[in-house]
Amino acid sequence: MPVTIPEIQAMKTRGEPIAMLTAYDATTARLLDEVGIPILLVGDSLGMVVLGYADTTAVTMEDMLHHTKAVVRGRRRALVVADMPFLSSTVSAERALENAGRFIQEAGAHAVKVEGGETIAPTIRRLLAAGVPVMGHVGLTPQHVLVQGGYRVQGRSAPAAEQVLRDALAVEAAGAFSVVLECIPTELAALITEALEIPTIGIGAGPHCDGQVQVIHDLVGAIPDFTPRHAKRYVELAAMVRAAVDRYAEEVRTRLFPEPAHGTSMDEAIVQTLRERLGSLRAG
Ligand code: KIV
Repeated sequence: MPVTIPEIQAMKTRGEPIAMLTAYDATTARLLDEVGIPILLVGDSLGMVVLGYADTTAVTMEDMLHHTKAVVRGRRRALVVADMPFLSSTVSAERALENAGRFIQEAGAHAVKVEGGETIAPTIRRLLAAGVPVMGHVGLTPQHVLVQGGYRVQGRSAPAAEQVLRDALAVEAAGAFSVVLECIPTELAALITEALEIPTIGIGAGPHCDGQVQVIHDLVGAIPDFTPRHAKRYVELAAMVRAAVDRYAEEVRTRLFPEPAHGTSMDEAIVQTLRERLGSLRAG
């Protein structure tokens, strides 16, 4: 049975933690889906971990649509949430609706995620009124990296914490079905999780959220020279890939690869005929 939004909300009611992960391609989506991950986020972190940009501001609608389509093709059960990239949800509510509509109609996503709190709430209302489910995202909002001059924990002081709380409440009041809490103090995330009826999904927000989200590349150690503080590496994929590639290159150099099983043989008589024909074929 495909995962639905009411099912995600019921997980909060049952006190069942929600393990969400990012995915950007069909193969990874399929793997994560098979393991039982209920929500796949096609995050605009795509910009850094797949496309090689310094931050998410260069990611376009076309980039996101392309990768969302791939994830939708790979999933069987999971709910696919597409991240609305820089400026795609903030220029106007109408523009946001057009863009969100493309994620649903063209790419087959089941919901979109928008960054921002009180300021984006009217847009969330507009999307919802048109039938587009929305996941909110408050606290650290990476699309504001140029304004904020880096990635910093949000909501440490009393006024800043109150703003994050206001943002989370605004996103819920506007109709979001869930909200990401990124890089805020553990106690603040616990308070927001208790205050909201919708599930909170934390990243760098401590253990008391209703769920957690991680970037898949961080989880598997695909980017060995950088691991955010909030991430835990469960395997060392980069080291494993390097070792495999090293062996492959060595086996090609020493002609150990490919072995007969990796190829196809043909009838020796045909080979012989071709050899005989070679001279006349060369002569034209
Ligand atoms: O883009 C992304 O991957 C995200 C998550 C980290 C929440 O927004």
